Amino acid sequence: MLSGTEHYLALDAVRYANNSLNLQIFEELIGLFRAQAPIPDDAEFPLVQPSLPSYAFPADVLTSARLDAALSPKRLELIRASIRNPATTARADAPICYIAPWEPGVIRDATVDLVLSQSVLEYPRDLAGIYAEMCRWLKPGGVMSHEIDFKSMGLTTEWNGHWSCSDAVWRLAAGRRRNRVNREPHSTHIALIEKMGCRIVRDQRIMRPSGITRAQLAPRFHFLVDDDLTTSSALIQAVKPA
Ligand SMILES: C[S@@+](CC[C@H](N)C(=O)[O-])C[C@H]1O[C@@H](n2cnc3c(N)ncnc32)[C@H](O)[C@@H]1O
Repeated sequence: MLSGTEHYLALDAVRYANNSLNLQIFEELIGLFRAQAPIPDDAEFPLVQPSLPSYAFPADVLTSARLDAALSPKRLELIRASIRNPATTARADAPICYIAPWEPGVIRDATVDLVLSQSVLEYPRDLAGIYAEMCRWLKPGGVMSHEIDFKSMGLTTEWNGHWSCSDAVWRLAAGRRRNRVNREPHSTHIALIEKMGCRIVRDQRIMRPSGITRAQLAPRFHFLVDDDLTTSSALIQAVKPA
């Protein structure tokens, strides 16, 4: 919103958002934008990947003129009011809308410029359905950007040991966790995005030596390609054809 976005639709499977904490974070972000502060780098967040070629404030995109408009007191007050009381349906007049839990159909087709997710798409079971839905939301020429983690989230000794577990063992390991990763590898995401007719413009993978051999793969993961076994996370960005 502080970069100039007019409408922000936030979807989650579970209602986690805390309006008063979000307001505090918003005030801090205003300070960082006003100061044109650099993006926190490897020194502050050494585990955040992928690393960026530059951590400077993107002043070429967020020019002074844009920032003046985006940070005008009247606009900030409107956003604050919307953080305090977000809309619960995707109305055209609300700056912020928060729908959790969401279901297919909550966003109208071809109304969205950017779909952004961060450490989310490793969880949904119905990945094909979610990609179809996200693709429908996008306007022609719209962009989707997903950071996806393929690791076992500490449930196995090896980072990719989850691909060696049978479904029964995996269910046992995950126990009653609300969020259990879907175990789909990088190639599944690429195939689904391409199947929806979107064009992949960035696929930045973080590689790690595999902790398991192909012979250890559970039968249902025999389809993994060799690159899947060494791709621990990826930033995938795609464009819906105009
Ligand atoms: C690891 S957290 C990441 C949260 C945040 N994006 C971040 O980077 O800090 C995963 C989030 O994905 C959400 N999630 C899982 N399945 C989802 C689904 N089918 N639709 C929407 N959100 C989902 C979870 O509820 C949780 O909020």
